[in-house]
Amino acid sequence: MSCWNANEAVLGTLMAAGGDSVIAISDELNHASIIDGIRLGRQINKQSKSKVYKHSDMENLEALLKASSDIQYKLVVTDGVFSMEGDIADLARIVELCNEHDALLIVDDSHGVGVCGPTGKGVAEHCGVHGQIDCMTGTLGKALGGAAGGYIASSRKLIELMEQKSRPQLFSNAVPSATAGAANKAIEILTRDNKRVEKLRENVHYMREGLKSRGFETMEGPSAITPIILGETSKAIAASKRLLELGVFVIGFGYPVVPEGSARLRVQISAAHETEHLDRALEAFSKL
Ligand SMILES: Cc1ncc(COP(=O)(O)O)c(C=O)c1O
Repeated sequence: MSCWNANEAVLGTLMAAGGDSVIAISDELNHASIIDGIRLGRQINKQSKSKVYKHSDMENLEALLKASSDIQYKLVVTDGVFSMEGDIADLARIVELCNEHDALLIVDDSHGVGVCGPTGKGVAEHCGVHGQIDCMTGTLGKALGGAAGGYIASSRKLIELMEQKSRPQLFSNAVPSATAGAANKAIEILTRDNKRVEKLRENVHYMREGLKSRGFETMEGPSAITPIILGETSKAIAASKRLLELGVFVIGFGYPVVPEGSARLRVQISAAHETEHLDRALEAFSKL
């Protein structure tokens, strides 16, 4: 199972289980797998509903929750770190709103676990609400290093429901054992030792400052994702190609991955980078 499957499994299964009184409420910049998970849920259960709130707009989320007060099962779903912007969800406020309106909160923290929070436990830890998220999904393919695989972390009851009912879990092979073993080790290292998370934070700061001093406008956020908006898709692709010629691998994203007119380079920084690597990358950006 990957995180794509995990999001389809959680949303498809819970929306099916909600009968004629279930709604999924989703941030407009959520990852494609959340969008498709909700689409799947709506197909499986034609009586289910869905609504989208403006990106990180807590007043809009609250209004949608209030308007859904007659619906029995309310699911609020958000990315922890938004994958194309590098900004984070206001999980402290979202937890509060979900408690107030008796909604179940699902957070995909694929880009947050191993990166955000004092000990790398993710955006919930960063926001002071670690342990208060009803259901977490994530990938083993980013900070946890296995390059593939995903997970659902939740109460025993919800996990049992997934084991019994979720089709991506029932009808697909499990994560390969080598990948599971590697991820297990990564979690063990992350739990025992904070130095990689600290080094990552220093590297991100170094790179962001270096880019800014060279005239690049980076989008702010506490994650390792550092987007540089260039506008036209062709410009982002050309910049990415030129950087590769200069020995630096930075992917350019354009429409339909991001909205038209906001094509970007997405710089991803790792704890494995040494200062000399970051300096070489910055040199390439200067030439660009
Ligand atoms: C926020 C988010 N969710 C889910 C996924 C999908 O993860 P996986 O590759 O494990 O299917 C990604 C991958 O890019 C992602 O960024």
